[in-house]
Amino acid sequence: MKNFLFFVAILTLSAAQALDVNRVYLDEDDIRSRFAGNGIVRVCTNGESIVGGEFKRGLVVPSPARLCLVTDGKAKSFSATFGQFEKPNRSMLHLRVWCDGKLIAQTPELNSTSGPHRVTADLKGARWVEIDVHAVGNPWAGKSVIGDAFIEMEEGFRPRDITCLSRQLGVLTPKSSDEPRFNGPKVFGARPGNPVFFRIPVSGAKPLNVSIENLSEVPGLKFNSDLNLIEGRVENPGVYSLKVVAKNAAGEARREIKLHIGEKLSLTPPMGWNSWNAFAHDVSAEKIRKMADAFERLNLADYGWSYILVDDGWQIKADAKEPRRDKNGVQLTNERFPDMKALADYVHSKGLKIGLYSSPGPVTCTGYEGSFLHEKTDALTYADWGYDFLKYDWCSYGNIAKGETVQLKYLYPYLIMGRNLRALKRDIVHYACAYGFGDVATWGASVNAQCWRTTRDLFDFWGGILTAMDQMDALWRFVSPGGWNDMDMMVIGDIHWSGGKTRLTPNEQYTHVSMWAMGAVPMILGCDLDKIDDFTLSLITNGEVIDINQDSLGAAAAKVQCGEGWSCWARPLDGGDFAVAMVNESQLEREILFCLEKAGLEGRWAVRDLWRQRDEGEVVRGYRAKVPGHATHLIRLSPREGARLSDRLGDIRENSWLRRAEKIRGQQQSAGCADCP
Ligand code: GAL
Repeated sequence: MKNFLFFVAILTLSAAQALDVNRVYLDEDDIRSRFAGNGIVRVCTNGESIVGGEFKRGLVVPSPARLCLVTDGKAKSFSATFGQFEKPNRSMLHLRVWCDGKLIAQTPELNSTSGPHRVTADLKGARWVEIDVHAVGNPWAGKSVIGDAFIEMEEGFRPRDITCLSRQLGVLTPKSSDEPRFNGPKVFGARPGNPVFFRIPVSGAKPLNVSIENLSEVPGLKFNSDLNLIEGRVENPGVYSLKVVAKNAAGEARREIKLHIGEKLSLTPPMGWNSWNAFAHDVSAEKIRKMADAFERLNLADYGWSYILVDDGWQIKADAKEPRRDKNGVQLTNERFPDMKALADYVHSKGLKIGLYSSPGPVTCTGYEGSFLHEKTDALTYADWGYDFLKYDWCSYGNIAKGETVQLKYLYPYLIMGRNLRALKRDIVHYACAYGFGDVATWGASVNAQCWRTTRDLFDFWGGILTAMDQMDALWRFVSPGGWNDMDMMVIGDIHWSGGKTRLTPNEQYTHVSMWAMGAVPMILGCDLDKIDDFTLSLITNGEVIDINQDSLGAAAAKVQCGEGWSCWARPLDGGDFAVAMVNESQLEREILFCLEKAGLEGRWAVRDLWRQRDEGEVVRGYRAKVPGHATHLIRLSPREGARLSDRLGDIRENSWLRRAEKIRGQQQSAGCADCP
């Protein structure tokens, strides 16, 4: 009898083991690391649990988060116990399971008192499976726990990485040619009598000689040919056309660059680098200097990258025992930033501009000294130190503004700082980091801000890019030279909080950069430039793509055509060309047909593939492209025979882009979305 029981026990054990072989747990390292979303997904430590529930193994998952796995029809089922993390929060969370893009199971929306919920889903036949955690209401809040979560796979199979679902694009940008090429802005602005500081971006083999033929026509302007830097002060308002020539052994290039002396700054979207994503609190003057060195080593300024921005963490902590300001109210810095002026001088010596960070509240988002009630002193101090850009981050101002009416609450602190910056004898770009609160896009320009954040923080997953595109679709009409919708730092390259490299697939990164270019969104890198790889470098040194972002007309793209899982966006460019982005929003490769009529274009147009920098012949009516999953095909259309704007839309030179795009919208609605006549 004893032997028999022993035999049964062995059988039971091996059956369980056999079963385990087919169970792929979500907390296994190679699966867990594919989760992407708002922060790190980590294995639960001992004692951590779901509110009111128990499980043997599990993951702490911030919301939103998404896991995509290719199961090739070999998966059987999914099951998991889902609930709020033990430190309850106010958001309602749920877990959803998608097969081949279709929602097949979900938990109810759970709050912190709901207790855990077991979810199971039949995955038979699925090519790919997506599991996401989503918060209802505020999608950027809340942590959940997924316990005892596994996919049952057929014997011998494991899920594969999502990138194998669709062909992934490699480096498309051709090697930069030896011949001189002007990149980036053709136009820049400065206020009368304030210091001018503009480095002319030009690539090509070194040594490369740049000069301005008619410099002497603009009193007060100087040219530093070591750094290709236009400096000086110009007192008289007006538009000054500078004839710039670049020569090297391979050839010569010319460009007319316009300097607007007037009220507007940032006539094209700011391009640069910010410290937060790479270093967060560990930022130091030393690291900032290293990034300025990296700019130089990578020749980034030749493509228009011009700002180095110090984010939160240079000030004194609000709860520190030491003073946070001196007797005159001037802000003091922590030990990692011994000399703010010297740091600015160093960055300027490379021909780059420098920015810093503060908050209208008493403390910043991570508890450092803010500018509340010190706005004027701080503006003067930043100018005195020689800074060119201020990221002004809402943070603790919510506590000050309690009880105010909505619009005033959000607008007021930016109005105060905007006025103080405007009064300086130095141009400091004002970035209203207001997360879209109070519809900042509608009033940003009125508070002397040159850019404004319309979204919460951007994280390196596809949902973040789609959210930003929704914002572009809703808010493009508020963009114009000197006023830009911002969608946060770009999430390409090495970004610390995702534990290293971006989790966007290569295709998704093409969509990310293409859409930032189309939306005229400030392009601010967030990666550690010392760890940059060739692929990331190729994304940020494609002069033809950057030209779209920096176009002088400053018109953001409107969505002109769309269907299930795809969209086409168009923006008019200075000089009569158009840029078009054909975005595959689905996981699988598809052919997209862009109908020129949807963007109001008639006649024959020449097509240039901007990522590959390759001419694609001429088109009339429709242009087709095979676009891999989550990738974007970015083209430039130039007028050829009979090319014109549709009568119904009028002439772009006579009509504002706003009115034109309204008409495009009207036409799109009446003509339906996807058909090409
Ligand atoms: C956040 C902001 C980030 C970063 C951080 C610093 O609110 O969105 O971009 O600046 O604060 O504390």
